[in-house]
Parts: sequence; structure tokens; C-alpha cells
Amino acid sequence: MVQTLHPTILAIESSCDETSASVIRSGKVLNNVIASQEVHHKHGGVVPELASRAHQQNILRVVNEAMDQSGIKKNELNAIAFTRGPGLMGSLLVGVSFAKGMALALDIPMIEVNHMEAHVLAHFISEPKPQFPFLCLTVSGGHTQIVLVKSFLELKVLGQTQDDAVGEAFDKAAKMMGLPYPGGPLIDNYAKLGNASAFKFSQTSMPDLDFSFSGIKTAFLYFLRDKKKEDENFVEKNLNDICASLQRHLVQMLLQKLKLAAQQTGIKEIAIAGGVAANSGLRNALTDLAKELNWKIFIPEFQYCTDNAAMIAMAAHYKFLEGKFCGMDVAPVPNLEVGY
Ligand code: KG4
Ligand code: ZN
Repeated sequence: MVQTLHPTILAIESSCDETSASVIRSGKVLNNVIASQEVHHKHGGVVPELASRAHQQNILRVVNEAMDQSGIKKNELNAIAFTRGPGLMGSLLVGVSFAKGMALALDIPMIEVNHMEAHVLAHFISEPKPQFPFLCLTVSGGHTQIVLVKSFLELKVLGQTQDDAVGEAFDKAAKMMGLPYPGGPLIDNYAKLGNASAFKFSQTSMPDLDFSFSGIKTAFLYFLRDKKKEDENFVEKNLNDICASLQRHLVQMLLQKLKLAAQQTGIKEIAIAGGVAANSGLRNALTDLAKELNWKIFIPEFQYCTDNAAMIAMAAHYKFLEGKFCGMDVAPVPNLEVGY
């Protein structure tokens, strides 16, 4: 087995609709090549079969580009890392199979990475880095979790959504307003121009640190239906205000639980991660809350919020140092859990 504290690793991410590759050397991420899949936009959501086909088309080019950019030769690699889950089975299979082929050809070990743990460890790609233990609110299109991070490899979910993810709530609300997929960033943009107090939505209450976003989705559907009965152009006339009000509501739902988690654990080192961490409303409200509660907050660079292989590379680096490799019989796990 390879014995080095300065490993060079190629990491591949293919869990959903982004094909990405990254090279990391001695814990320093050298690049982060991402091919996004436009093919889903016209369908209003990710179509799993189209996603896996697009991964197959993109993966060789993306991996070659990451290797070329890094200036590192394939025979200098110490390991190949890949996302094992959670994600779409067909998409994960492309990355896992590609990693296996390359590891076999180069005769180097493989490292399996949990996508949700990698979102959290994206905080160690660049400065400032959080100190352990810290809390991370991981918010994406598939997950909404509050994670207690004790060390690079010890992560525990304290609370999570019991139904839809917050990113899904953003995307589905956008779809109801006739906006294309993914609607989260569009709602964010319109919200910047709107009045967040214009419309009110009812609160959903969940025990402890768990979340639920299916109620707000239904409430929003009925809200639009009722308003459109009064004026069929309601959405067009009020788009900015609707987006601002909805965004504030979703952000408050997240921060309320994050505040509770901080109170319960006594931790003031607070991070956010995942695609929805790119939301400007969440970033601003978190910054305000941090001032009020004396929190030290960590928000990743935009390119490391949404799906990317640099975060897989970062997680793989720490697993390499602990000698955590996997065998050729490894298979993707679409519902892989944190701390698995
Ligand atoms: O982490 P990610 O890239 O993929 C998953 O693992 O799901 O997250 C994608 C999600 C989508 O729901 C997208 O709408 C949302 O992140 N998102 C945003 C913003 N940018 C991305 N939601 C709200 N505001 C944004 N600025
Ligand atoms: Zn993700």
C-alpha cells in the first residue's frame, strides 16, 4: 500500500447532473473541472437516464482536462477517488466504473467518498477553515441536514428533512411560477429586487432539529392558485415580491433550526454548504445572525457550494491519510448516509 503524507489523487464526481474531476496534491486542490448538463433544463428537472448518458459523454474529456491542467502525469497518481453516493444510480455508476477502470490500469488504490460529507469538507479547500467541532448546515437539491463535525472523518447528522430538501422547495416553487430548472438561483435573483414582507406563508413545525418542506410547497401552490383566480397575471406582476417573500420564509425555516442546534450543542463555529449555500438571502441572514449571536461563520466559495469534484478530492485526501481505501467490488449506494 502507498505510504505518503503527500498524496496525489484524482477525484471524480458524478452523483447528479454535474460531471466533475479534480486533482489534489498534498492536500492542495489544483483544479476543479466541471461540465454541467444543459439537457435537463427543458424538462423542468433532472432526468436520470439523460444524466447518466451525459456523464458517459463528458467523463473522459473532463478527466483529461483536469489531468492536463494539473501538469501531473497519470503514473504520478497515488489513488483515484469517486462519489459512492448519495445520488442517482445511473449517474453514480458512470463515475464508479470509470474510477475502477483507471485504478486497475494504473494499479493504484481507490477511495470512496460520501457526497454529503464532501460538501461539508469543502470548507477545507481554502482559508478560512473552521475549527472542530463545528456545525454545518448542508443544503442542496437532495438534502437538508444539520451535521455535527467532530473531525475530518467523524460526522454526525443531528437533524434533517423528513420529506423534500430545501433546494427542491426552491426549484418546485420556481416551476410553479413558470421558471426553468434549476429555479433556486432565479428566485435568488428576483428576490434581490423584491419586498420580502409582501406575502406571508404559514409555518410548518417539526420536532427538534428536523425539517419539513413539503408543507410550504403545497401552501405555495394554493397561494398561487388563489391569487391567480383574482388576477391571472398575478405572478408576472409580483414576481420579485413573491420570490423575496418565499426566499425569506425558507431561509428563516433553516436558520431557526440552526440556531436551536447551536444552542443545544454550545457550538459557535457555524458553516453552511451545498448548492443552496450559494443563496444570497441565506448568506446575508446568516451574517446578521452571526453578529447577533457571536458566531464565527464559514461560507464556501461559490464554485465549491454546488456539486464539484474538488470537495470529493478534499474528502479523499483525509481518507488517504487514514488508509481508508476500498476494493474493486465497491458498488454505488444511491441513499448512502453520512457516517455510513
Ligand atoms: O449541491 P447541489 O449543486 O446539488 C445537489 O447535490 O443537489 O445543489 C443544487 C441545488 C438546486 O436545488 C438549486 O436550485 C440550488 O441548489 N441552488 C440555489 C442557488 N444556487 C443553487 N438555491 C437558491 N439560491 C441559489 N442562489
Ligand atoms: Zn450536492
